[in-house]
Amino acid sequence: MQTLAGKKILLGISGGIAAYKCAELTRRLIERGAQVQVVMTKAAKEFITPLTMQAVSGRPVADSLLDPSAEASMSHIESAKWADLVLLAPATADLIARVAAGMGNDLLSTLILATDAPVAVSPAMNQQMYRNIATQENIQTLARRGMMIWGPGAGEQACGDVGPGRMLEPMELVAHCEAFFAPKPLAGKSIVLTAGPTREAIDPVRFISNHSSGKMGFALADQAKRLGADVTLISGPVSLATPAGVTRINVESAEQMYQAAMEHAPSHDVFIGCAAVADYRPANIAEQKIKKTADNDAMTISMVKNPDIVASVAALETARPFTVGFAAETQNVAQYAKSKLENKRLDMICANDVSVEGLGFNSNDNMITVYWESGEQSLTLASKDEIAQQILLLISDKLSTN
Ligand code: C5P
Repeated sequence: MQTLAGKKILLGISGGIAAYKCAELTRRLIERGAQVQVVMTKAAKEFITPLTMQAVSGRPVADSLLDPSAEASMSHIESAKWADLVLLAPATADLIARVAAGMGNDLLSTLILATDAPVAVSPAMNQQMYRNIATQENIQTLARRGMMIWGPGAGEQACGDVGPGRMLEPMELVAHCEAFFAPKPLAGKSIVLTAGPTREAIDPVRFISNHSSGKMGFALADQAKRLGADVTLISGPVSLATPAGVTRINVESAEQMYQAAMEHAPSHDVFIGCAAVADYRPANIAEQKIKKTADNDAMTISMVKNPDIVASVAALETARPFTVGFAAETQNVAQYAKSKLENKRLDMICANDVSVEGLGFNSNDNMITVYWESGEQSLTLASKDEIAQQILLLISDKLSTN
């Protein structure tokens, strides 16, 4: 996908061992439609040659402030104005310090002073240098001035140390660039959603639950954040990492999920009920572990109904958010989904047929039809990320026409 079509990225490379990854990074950016102008510090050229960077970027590398021929083709001020994004990768402790101090003692630092484009900094250095208070304060200074700090990652380092300070991998930096340039139709909107299963306790060690993995809800939270929304994710017990920038509230039971949803829904523009909430819970939770007995071959657990969270949100009389539900069905999908839309008084429902092998629960792909009062749209088979993005774009459309 040409996710970076026409975007002008000025890639500033300073002298760290991670510079060898810049050839790969440049290839991946260009593959996605970006134009990449490479600027190297003197030390960077010790780690990767300008010839390599020229070959992969398709442009002569700029490396000198005082080069008359380079200044004649595109002056350093023109380069600074040309960029849509300045990406410093790897950004060494020295480069970060020079930028923090506002120095202009080589081409790259001068360009950073002269640009009004957003600047992203991808730190890369030895873990001890990274932890050094001077480096930490310099990074905070850059962040305070509005520069984006991408990374570093942690792990094994070229010098043999282990810890934070690894430059993010090229594909992680590409993902940051894509997210940075992605349209933000949900900017200024806030979304709260439920995800995953609930656990209904029987006794201190047992519960009733379901197979929901939470993947669809987490994909929605991640994509909503990428589209610019402020996102709160109320999650049942799942083994998924919290998407970057998303506020997560962990709950176990349907009642806890209900409390969290009712607390947060009124202060958000959109509520999405994506959790697989248990419809019933044991009427009583045994205080001690229930023991099997020799004379009982069967046991009965008496159950009571849980509150319907999405319907309760949809029934809010004041500060009611735009409310979206999900319907996982095994038959008569359209009919059941439409009746849920009406009965729960939702603004939108996303229905999927979980009888189709490889879709729905636990899978990475999904196929969904979205219904609202006056229309419907089928979203063809795609990854949960893509489906999530399409659902959110539909929600964004509806918000702007409401
Ligand atoms: O009625 P059914 O469980 O099929 O409806 C599914 C939709 O309702 C989903 O959006 C789900 O998150 C929501 N739901 C809920 N609270 C319940 C049961 C379902 O929010 N107790």
